[in-house]
Amino acid sequence: MKVTLTVNGTPRTVDVPADMPLLWILRDVLDLPGTKFGCGKALCGACTVHVNGTATRSCQVPASACQGRKVTTIEGLSKDGSHPLQRAWQELDVAQCGYCQAGQIMQAADLLARTPKPSDDDIDAAMHGNLCRCATYLRIREGIKRAAQLQAAGGRKAE
Ligand code: FES
Ligand code: FES
Repeated sequence: MKVTLTVNGTPRTVDVPADMPLLWILRDVLDLPGTKFGCGKALCGACTVHVNGTATRSCQVPASACQGRKVTTIEGLSKDGSHPLQRAWQELDVAQCGYCQAGQIMQAADLLARTPKPSDDDIDAAMHGNLCRCATYLRIREGIKRAAQLQAAGGRKAE
């Protein structure tokens, strides 16, 4: 089926099976490999992107549900890596192997957009479904707090 969706601000039309997950549309059809495959079962969060502004597990969204949707991937979170979360992640060296981190950042970006000053409980509630094999959870928490500071100081609302 033909599906037209907007990816990182650009309209894209793809011709794919109706049951192809958005994750594979992004990675294999549109050549955006920043979004990762982990479990394929909504259990890990590695595939998290924003769909119409909400953090979404792209492994669970079939092509048939993508028509007209606005999708943002880690490649489109900012033009130049300047999103407060990306700056904080670099500053605090959050990533270890890095595999889970695109999903972590996209989930955290949704949190910061809705809750600019998240408490520990807010962070736990938002991030509990994003797994990290390298157990970088403490640095992720600090990264989110630092990003909230950068966001407040810069007057820039997270996307
Ligand atoms: S790959 Fe989608 S949640 Fe794990
Ligand atoms: S940094 Fe390795 S899985 Fe999270």
